[in-house]
Amino acid sequence: MIPAPERIREYEGLPEEILISRIAALRDRYKDNVCVLAHLYQRRSISQLANFVGDSYGLSRSAANFKGGEYIVFCGVRFMAESAAILCRSDQHVLHPEPEAGCPMADMASIEETSRAWSALTRTGGTLVPVTYMNSTADIKSFCGELGGTICTSSNALKTFEWAFKRGERVFFLPDEHLGRNTAKQFGIVPDDIATWDPNKPDGGGEDYESAKVILWRGYCPVHQKFTSRDVEHIRRFYPDAKVVVHPECPQEVVDRADAVGSTDFIGKFVATTKPGDKIFIGTEINLVQNLQTQYPDRLIAKLHRSLCLTMYQISLARLLLTLENLEAFDRVVVPNKTAHFARVALDRMLSIH
Ligand code: 13P
Ligand code: SF4
Repeated sequence: MIPAPERIREYEGLPEEILISRIAALRDRYKDNVCVLAHLYQRRSISQLANFVGDSYGLSRSAANFKGGEYIVFCGVRFMAESAAILCRSDQHVLHPEPEAGCPMADMASIEETSRAWSALTRTGGTLVPVTYMNSTADIKSFCGELGGTICTSSNALKTFEWAFKRGERVFFLPDEHLGRNTAKQFGIVPDDIATWDPNKPDGGGEDYESAKVILWRGYCPVHQKFTSRDVEHIRRFYPDAKVVVHPECPQEVVDRADAVGSTDFIGKFVATTKPGDKIFIGTEINLVQNLQTQYPDRLIAKLHRSLCLTMYQISLARLLLTLENLEAFDRVVVPNKTAHFARVALDRMLSIH
C-alpha cells in the first residue's frame, strides 16, 4: 500500500510538534522491532527521530548489522533503501516513506546503456574492472558484482581504486564523473589517461578508450555540480581565514581549491576539529550545513552556494508517520532475487574495502 494523496495531505496539514510526538511515541512502542535510518541530508526534524544517522556507507553498515526485528524504515533516497533491502536479513523488510524519491544521478546510468558501453569498451583491450558509486540502481550494482567489480562510496573511493587496479589494468567508473575524476587524481592517474563515456553520444563520444586507464561515465549530481571555483574564490576574498570543505561529487576545479574534501560523514568530522570562532564554508547539501550550524552555534558555518537535494527533501514527517502507522501494509522495497544476489556480492566487497 502507498498512502492515498488525500491522506498524505491530511497528515501534511498537522503541526510539526504533533507529527514529531506521534512518531516518537510509535518508535518507542515498537522498540527494537523497527529501526529508523536517516541520511545526513535529511532535515533535522527527521534525523532527530532516527535510530541511526549517517552517510551512505554508514547506513549500509547499519542495515547489514541491524540485529533487531522486522522493519527498517529508510529516510533517504531510493538507491540507499534498495541497498538496505539487499543487505538486511531475509526476514526483515525495508520501507521507504516516499518510493518516488530517487537520486537523479543514479538514474543517469541505465542497465541497457551500461551494458552497451561495457561491450564497446571491453573490445578496446586490457582487463577492465567495473566500479559503481553507491549512488546507482540495484541493476548497476548487480552488473558490477557479476563482472568481478565492486561498489564504492565517497568515503572509500580511493581504497576502491587501489582494490580495482590490483585486479585489472583499467577501471570503468560510473555514474559520477566528478567523484571518478577526483579519485583518479588522488590515486595518481594523469588527465591524459582518463576518458569519458557519454551515454547520450554515439559510441560514448568516441574518445581514446584504448589507452585510457580510467573511463568515466558522464553523470553528475545536480546539487554538487552547481558549485564553481568562483564560489571558492569569493569566500577566499571576503573571508581569507575561513576553511572550505567540499564533497567529492563537486567538480574538480572546486575540489582543487578547497581545504578539505570528503564524504558527508567526513565533513561532520572535519567541522568537529575546528574551534569556537572559526569560519567554515561547506560545499554540499544544505540540510547537512544547517544541521552542523545547529550543532556548533559558536562558529560561523555557512553554505558555499545554495544547494537543496529535492528528492531527499521528499521524505517528510507526514510520510514517516504514515509509514510507521502502516508497517504491515506499506509497500516493501523489493529487489528481484538475481539482481539482489550479484548486487550483494558487490556490496559485500564494498563493505570489506575500508
Ligand atoms: P555520502 O556517500 O557522502 O553519504 O553521499 C551520498 C550522496 O548522495 C551525496 O550526494
Ligand atoms: Fe543524488 Fe545529488 Fe541528491 Fe545525493 S545530493 S541524493 S547524489 S541528487
